[in-house]
Parts: sequence; C-alpha cells; structure tokens
Amino acid sequence: MSSMTTERRRLGDLKPDPEMWAALDDGALLTRILDDFYTTVFADPRLAHFFEGRTKDWVAQKQYSFLCQIFSGAPVYFGDRPRNAHHWMVIDDALFDHREAIMEACLRRHGLPEHLVQRWMSVEEIFRKQIVKAAPVPRKVNGAALPLEGYDRIVLDSGTLCDGCGAEVGTGATLTFHVRTGKGYCATCMPAPDAR
Ligand code: HEM
Repeated sequence: MSSMTTERRRLGDLKPDPEMWAALDDGALLTRILDDFYTTVFADPRLAHFFEGRTKDWVAQKQYSFLCQIFSGAPVYFGDRPRNAHHWMVIDDALFDHREAIMEACLRRHGLPEHLVQRWMSVEEIFRKQIVKAAPVPRKVNGAALPLEGYDRIVLDSGTLCDGCGAEVGTGATLTFHVRTGKGYCATCMPAPDAR
C-alpha cells in the first residue's frame, strides 16, 4: 500500500491521455487488466457482496467503456455516472483504499510504467467523493432525487436473470426492480400490481 493513500492522492484530470492509451495497447491491455482486476474483486471478502447478481464480464465491460472514454476521449460510455452507479452502496474511505490497492497492484502486475500507474490512480481518486458515503443516497435523474425504497418496472432492452428464481427474463419482458438495490424480479416472482 503506497504511502500516498492516507494523505489523499493528488487528483488527476479527465483529459484524454494518448500516452496512457498507447501504453494500454489501444485497449487490448485494458481488457486484460480489468479481467484480472475483477477476478480479484469478485473473490474479495470485502468487495464481492456488492456484485451479487452481476457477472464479472458485465462489470468489466462497463468499466472498460468508462475508462476507454476517459483515456482515449472516444465517446463510448453510456452508463451511469459514478455517483448514481454507487448510490445504494455504503463505502468508507478504508474500503475505497482497499479497492484502489487491488487496482494498483494489478496495474503493476501487467507491467504498466510506474508514472502511468500513478496517473491512473490519480484519475480514480477523482471519483472518491462521489462514491464514499456513510449511507445510501437517492439516484438522481435530471437533478431529481428518486425514492430510496420501493419498486419500479422497466421493459428490458437486453435480457437479464431474475434475482428471485434465477430464471432468464428476456428482451421485451417487464422486470420489476428495487429502486435502491437494483435487484430485479420476473413476472412470476413479482407480478405487476394489476396482475395480482
Ligand atoms: C470500493 C469501491 C467500489 C465498489 C464497491 C464498486 C462497486 C460497483 C458495483 C457493485 C457496480 C455495479 C452496480 C450495479 O450494476 O448496480 C459498479 C459499477 C460501476 N463502477 Fe464501481 N465500485 C467501486 C469503485 C469504483 C471506482 C473508483 C470507479 C471509477 C474509477 C467505479 C466506476 C464504476 C462504473 C463506471 C460502473 C458502471 C456503472 C453502470 O452500470 O452504468 N467504481 N461498481
């Protein structure tokens, strides 16, 4: 664990970084790094529980497009901003540092030059204040805070698995999901109110 951790790391910036993107072999090395990183995270006793119901490939793919957009400047990320993506997770500085230590070790394992390891870590430090919190916060859409409790429904544009029975819920089907935890249920496990 580097000594920089306690006295918070200098914040990086979100400008495209051609030197970093070249060192990441235009993405090929980034894919290997994220596969290795999430293999560790999914087996980590302090982090794994957050990813219940999510596959490693799904999370790695999201993180790939997020970091690819930052490092290459290509407009390829269409997911949530970190504040919303982690709105329901209670994460303290120590746990954030723990995740960052796993990332730092992973970057070195893949031979990223030390000055780029520090640059990558400084970029991630930007998101600490959006992610670290003592209690869940409401998701914000267009500035409006959504409720922290209750269920909502969505017609799926890609398939997923029901968090109740594990059955596949296909494209076009309606999924009932918890607005804070994101856990989703098929029509059998949670029939729509008017179908009850
Ligand atoms: C202890 C620290 C962290 C934990 C436990 C964590 C956990 C998670 C989990 C469980 C998801 C999936 C959320 C869901 O689908 O409901 C997620 C998504 C994501 N995380 Fe993190 N994360 C952490 C730190 C970070 C950091 C430092 C970054 C940025 C550098 C980051 C960027 C993202 C992005 C871009 C997504 C995808 C959002 C989307 O699906 O639209 N996370 N994270």
